[in-house]
Amino acid sequence: MKLIYLLLAIIMLAACSNNSYYDKGKEFSIVEDSVTTPFKAVKFEKNESCKECHPIIYDEYTESMHYKATVFRDPIHNAVWEAHPNYKNKSQYKCAQCHIPGADNIEDFMNEGKQAMPDENNFTQNEAVSCAVCHKIASIEKHRQANRNIYSNKKEEYYGIREQLSIAHLTNSNNKMYSNGKMCMGCHSHRENIKKYVVCVTEDTSKINSYETCITCHMPQVKGPSSTNSSQQKHFFHGFPGAHNNINMLAKHVTFSVKKIASNEFELRIINKSSHDLFPHPLRKSVIKISIIRKGKAVYQFDEIEMERIMKDENGIAGCTLATKETLSSIVKRESISVITEHYDLKNGDELEVEYGYYLVKGEMLKTLNLENNDKVKAYRMFKKECFLIK
Ligand code: HEC
Ligand code: HEC
Ligand code: HEC
Ligand code: HEC
Ligand code: HEC
Repeated sequence: MKLIYLLLAIIMLAACSNNSYYDKGKEFSIVEDSVTTPFKAVKFEKNESCKECHPIIYDEYTESMHYKATVFRDPIHNAVWEAHPNYKNKSQYKCAQCHIPGADNIEDFMNEGKQAMPDENNFTQNEAVSCAVCHKIASIEKHRQANRNIYSNKKEEYYGIREQLSIAHLTNSNNKMYSNGKMCMGCHSHRENIKKYVVCVTEDTSKINSYETCITCHMPQVKGPSSTNSSQQKHFFHGFPGAHNNINMLAKHVTFSVKKIASNEFELRIINKSSHDLFPHPLRKSVIKISIIRKGKAVYQFDEIEMERIMKDENGIAGCTLATKETLSSIVKRESISVITEHYDLKNGDELEVEYGYYLVKGEMLKTLNLENNDKVKAYRMFKKECFLIK
């Protein structure tokens, strides 16, 4: 097996947008490397209070990882937190900045000289990445460790993309970040760990794919009105497809192609149109399974091709918290083509089955994080499967 990478830029397929909301070229309002001002709690409206008028969106949202981003609802987040030095010395749950930004004691979680740990009885912490949090991001400060959201504290006013429509509350359509997808970048851009090593990047620096944004891919338009008072046929999906949920909605952004290049050699191409690497989180592992089907029977299965990131520190393999370098990255890169070459004497009429699957937490980390007994976390998940007829 041979694996090489090509840049999609050379071969990028021309495509056109049919959605006029999006103007990705425009910059988002950003405060560059400003002096860090201390965190200050903002009062956010409760998720429950949106349910009455936005029932469909509310139901989608409560299935999403934004609603489940807390240590109480996400066992993987909880396990990594419990392995963090701040958990052991009971100092500060700094993850709050992105995982529970609406906490009323955010100052104790984030500011210097303070101290606070997650508290299940605090209602504001269970609100996770709430409706109001996401609809009140006024601007984003750019920082080396991680960007930071600056929230509006105007009561019952939510940013959106349309002119004022609701008499129930105010809406504000003057914030471009809600049309070009940049409003995700306060939490999703990048993250540097305590060793000053950047462990994860999904920052959108795409210059090729000018029509897709975080929002078009991760909040596709689906059937149903946006509120009980709306005559719209469709709304932005709030179930946020990703590695945990609804991943089938993202499958179209990754395509396969198969080509016979010699009598006993063929090539599989994995074409990634996303603006970020696939399964970029260091805990994940993805696998490609290829089998040959002849006359309806599986006659050969190639060794699985594993794709993952392996990080280290001075002492060897390390998790996100302590890593200082990456020694292997075999994942499919952003806007690129991964080419896998295999040898087999393919006959006309044979079928080649390609399966791209993944694990949320790779085997060796399951043990380290005490997640071996969690079947949901352990499960093999399918991303995409396709069959090719050899002619
Ligand atoms: C009493 C009814 C009611 C409640 C409660 C309510 N909304 Fe709305 N909201 C509406 C209506 C009506 C519209 C306009 C029509 C539509 O978009 O469906 C709207 C529109 C919006 C929009 C779209 C703005 C745009 O420019 O596209 C956002 C965002 C929004 N609401 C957020 C919220 C959030 C967050 C909550 C809870 C904290 C909430 N709403 C609670 C009735 C309500
Ligand atoms: C700058 C924002 C930010 C901070 C601070 C942050 N996270 Fe996250 N975290 C994210 C985002 C965004 C994701 C989703 C990315 C993904 O799934 O690839 C995420 C995902 C995770 C996941 C994967 C969860 C899963 O279910 O697969 C773990 C584990 C995690 N974070 C742990 C932590 C811990 C522990 C801390 C604090 C020590 C922390 N994070 C601080 C933004 C942040
Ligand atoms: C062209 C479509 C496309 C665009 C644009 C896109 N994504 Fe994705 N995203 C995908 C696909 C496909 C997956 C599923 C594979 C995976 O999990 O990496 C995914 C997965 C993810 C995941 C889950 C990763 C994990 O392993 O937990 C996060 C988080 C994410 N995207 C955030 C973003 C953000 C933030 C942006 C904007 C900067 C963005 N995406 C832009 C297609 C896209
Ligand atoms: C992770 C961020 C995020 C969260 C959490 C979130 N939204 Fe949104 N929402 C968006 C974005 C982005 C859009 C698309 C641009 C826009 O209309 O503002 C949107 C659109 C909307 C719209 C307009 C829908 C349409 O199709 O016209 C409404 C209404 C809305 N959200 C309400 C809610 C409610 C209610 C909740 C909680 C149940 C919620 N949002 C949670 C980011 C979020
Ligand atoms: C306030 C911070 C915040 C904002 C803003 C935000 N996210 Fe997230 N997002 C998170 C955190 C934290 C997680 C990880 C939750 C977990 O796994 O515990 C996450 C997870 C995700 C996932 C992974 C879901 C999965 O199944 O693995 C996707 C996809 C995603 N976000 C997309 C978006 C998009 C698109 C936007 C902008 C419209 C956005 N997010 C805005 C904090 C945020």
